[in-house]
Amino acid sequence: MLARVFSCAVIGLEGVVVEVEVDTMGGLPKMTIVGLPDTAVQESRERVESAIKNSGFTFPRKRVTVNLAPATVRKAGPVYDLPIAVGILIATAQLPSLALEDALVIGELSLDGSVRHVRGVLPMAALARAEGFGQIFVPEMDAPEAALIPDLEVIPVPSLAALYDHLTGGMQLSSDIGPAPEGITSAIPITDFQEIKGQEQTKRALEVAAAGSHNLLMIGPPGSGKTLLARATPGILPSMTIDEALDVTRIYSISDQLPSEVPLIQQRPFRAPHHTISHAGLVGGGNWPTPGEISLAHRGVLFLDEFVEFGSRVLEVMRQPLEDKQVTISRAQGSLTFPANFQLIAAMNPCPCGYAGDPVKECTCSNQVITRYQKRISGPMLDRIDIHIEVPRVDYDKLSDDRLGEPSSRIKTRVEAAREQQRKRFDDSNLSCNADMGPAELRQYCPLDQPGRSLLRNAMSQLHLSARAYHRVLKLARTIADLAGEENIDPAHLAEALQYRPKTQTM
Ligand SMILES: Nc1ncnc2c1ncn2[C@@H]1O[C@H](COP(=O)(O)OP(=O)(O)O)[C@@H](O)[C@H]1O
Ligand SMILES: [Mg+2]
Repeated sequence: MLARVFSCAVIGLEGVVVEVEVDTMGGLPKMTIVGLPDTAVQESRERVESAIKNSGFTFPRKRVTVNLAPATVRKAGPVYDLPIAVGILIATAQLPSLALEDALVIGELSLDGSVRHVRGVLPMAALARAEGFGQIFVPEMDAPEAALIPDLEVIPVPSLAALYDHLTGGMQLSSDIGPAPEGITSAIPITDFQEIKGQEQTKRALEVAAAGSHNLLMIGPPGSGKTLLARATPGILPSMTIDEALDVTRIYSISDQLPSEVPLIQQRPFRAPHHTISHAGLVGGGNWPTPGEISLAHRGVLFLDEFVEFGSRVLEVMRQPLEDKQVTISRAQGSLTFPANFQLIAAMNPCPCGYAGDPVKECTCSNQVITRYQKRISGPMLDRIDIHIEVPRVDYDKLSDDRLGEPSSRIKTRVEAAREQQRKRFDDSNLSCNADMGPAELRQYCPLDQPGRSLLRNAMSQLHLSARAYHRVLKLARTIADLAGEENIDPAHLAEALQYRPKTQTM
């Protein structure tokens, strides 16, 4: 008898329905899986056979053929164990055939028949709803993740035997997942801005950057607090909308980086990869591509400390995603696109010894060495960074001052207010913040008055701004005006935005 169970594959970030067909025929006992399965799917044969036997069912002493359709979609991972096992039970009349017409079934089996965690449950549940399925059977521990999708009955499955009982009218599995646990606060304690002495200008720049999701580069001597300041930024980032949170959670779900106790990622990601990271680790890759750090930082911050050390090849592959806000990875089997709309925060020393331009400690590098060092970051890369800020060392008086600065929570309130204006502005477009604006939106939302125009015209010629830099100044000025709660961009807003351009030609 032929059995059919619906399951799911994830290609990039999107789910695709997979039909698991199981047929049993006379002949030597043997199980074959066809339909572009990878090795983990091939290994299903062993797991499914043991799981069926150890759950108290009979494994057919016949030829079993499993077809995963459509054959054009590559099937990866052990997701199909459970649907294959269920298909075999239906094909051998141990389960009624009508039981699963309206459901997607996913799950890995262990040899004793219990159902184990699989990655990518969120996009699978989203697919189930989009395709009009009423139910999804998922591993018990992945149920809270699937339950993020509304209007879908999520049934947590602890084991094959429990699923059998449920389908045959025995003990029912409860689809009551309970309220989603609160999002955890970050595991690493975040420094509050109030603990960071001085550095008012840098803090202001970080606030502007957070408000509009602008890229920022800090340049300063060692020990001036660059790393400290960058690591404090999660405390001032605006909260995410539910759609943004689902977007981010999807990426973590397919990368298998979703902590099991938090089904929904509610805090903007903050990723700080080390400078030894590979090209594939940064932008994504692998034989069957998985998202890289730039996608894991989607809707959040990518912090590249010791920017120069990343090496030009690795940085250059980031140039296109910085512009497109997504990354396309091409493979022989086709290409995949992952979102990568992140805010870059980079930090570097001004020269190899670190003290070029420092008023106290003398720099030991020759001009030539300094120039070569700074040239390691290409012009096009620097052009994509809206805010360049020098971070000077803090003097003793400021450091030893016990008075606290402004707390992160107050800065965050301003950032939220500015972001709220942007949400209203982009309400019926798919943009979410000022940094996302293209030329059309710039024309619409960043008109300048006469004094503003002439200020910008002078600056263009004096600072040798590129067309890209011109647009970036406008976006930045828009954010500065939003922070000030102003509808119009004033010359003062433009002037602050221009102040964040690099000071010299090389930088
Ligand atoms: N403005 C500051 N206020 C308080 N502590 C600071 C400040 N700047 C630096 N520090 C102290 O110096 C340490 C080193 O700073 P760090 O951020 O690593 O410097 P950088 O990355 O610029 O080399 C910090 O961990 C902190 O203890
Ligand atoms: Mg540092």
